[in-house]
Amino acid sequence: MFEHSSIDLGILKKRAYNLRWATVPEGVIPLTAADPDFPCAPEIADAVMAYTRDRYLCYTPPAGMPEFRNAMAEFFTTRRAIHCDPSLIFPVDSAASGIYITCRAFLAPGDEAIIFDPVDFLFRYSVEAVGATAIPFAIPQNCDAVDFEKLETLITPATRMLCLCNPLNPTGKVFTRQELMQFAAIADKHDLIILSDEIWSDIIFAPHSFTSIASISPEIAKRTVTVTGFSKSYGLAGLRIGAVMAGTTTHFDRLMEASLHNATIHGANVLGQVAATTALTKCGPWLSEFVSHLTDMRDICVSGLNQIPGFTCVAPEGCYVAFANISGTGKTSKEVADHILETAKVAVVPGLPQWFGSGAEGFIRLSFATSATILQDALSRIKNSVG
Ligand SMILES: Cc1ncc(COP(=O)(O)O)c(C=O)c1O
Repeated sequence: MFEHSSIDLGILKKRAYNLRWATVPEGVIPLTAADPDFPCAPEIADAVMAYTRDRYLCYTPPAGMPEFRNAMAEFFTTRRAIHCDPSLIFPVDSAASGIYITCRAFLAPGDEAIIFDPVDFLFRYSVEAVGATAIPFAIPQNCDAVDFEKLETLITPATRMLCLCNPLNPTGKVFTRQELMQFAAIADKHDLIILSDEIWSDIIFAPHSFTSIASISPEIAKRTVTVTGFSKSYGLAGLRIGAVMAGTTTHFDRLMEASLHNATIHGANVLGQVAATTALTKCGPWLSEFVSHLTDMRDICVSGLNQIPGFTCVAPEGCYVAFANISGTGKTSKEVADHILETAKVAVVPGLPQWFGSGAEGFIRLSFATSATILQDALSRIKNSVG
């Protein structure tokens, strides 16, 4: 399933956008946006084709198809240990949209939200899009101890929200239960909403294990909005499908109102919901194989990066991205990324503030959701160009 021969580069070169195969010159390997090179699970393609064959693609309920809500609630209850009623779930047209809707529901101009640094740009973007201010909280790569005392100093009377990205893109950190309990205690003490983006929570490398902050206690679940998606675990980015789980019915109503789903202005499309329901109910074995393949790719990627002069890379605990420290080259992230693109014909994401915040300088990010053949080719090209 995850052999090199399963990858159809001809199709990817026509269809894979967002800095990937369809957007780079011929000959360039794009280890950029975290989107797998592999096709989705056959069960998902079959379900979408079967649904489409009936040729009725009608409006769905604004809060989502019952099958989707039930499958998502079952997932949170059985696999994330959060007692979840389907009435607290609704599909959104991506995890990105889930983050934005949550900011829209709970933040106003003048409010502040704590975001990690480095972290995916979507957090700052969404907080600022609703007129609030994003306050960065540094969680450097390979940090042994999250500085909770520092976190408390960042909280002001204007702070409304604590944004968690768990696992953390780009560093690959998976927060321990103890760390999450400390985040939860701070949110409780300062009466903050917790936004927990868990889109990466299926991509965890042993011996690490994932804990959802909403599973800490029923009280914490009530102040948490959990966002997840299907782009990373199941390769469904183009379907734009994700889910939001509210902590209470009051929060659910607030989120629904902010989503504009009731007005049919926004909403998750029917095929996305069919695909996501199938992913949750039928694709467990496919996902396990994918994670097992990714574990091998992670090891190849990290060991290859560590052989490049001036580079060091620690193994990510989760996520299929390697965040390599390139400060030993004496060059900036952008200079290294530009040099690699030009001379090695490999595209990587430089640690620029626009992608990950100011804490990403000195790093480049590489996605390893590809075959061993492509990854090894990319790494040896980088080594030859930098070494
Ligand atoms: C942490 C995080 N959240 C959200 C997203 C966006 O996911 P989606 O495609 O569902 O919008 C990404 C994509 O890279 C991500 O890394």
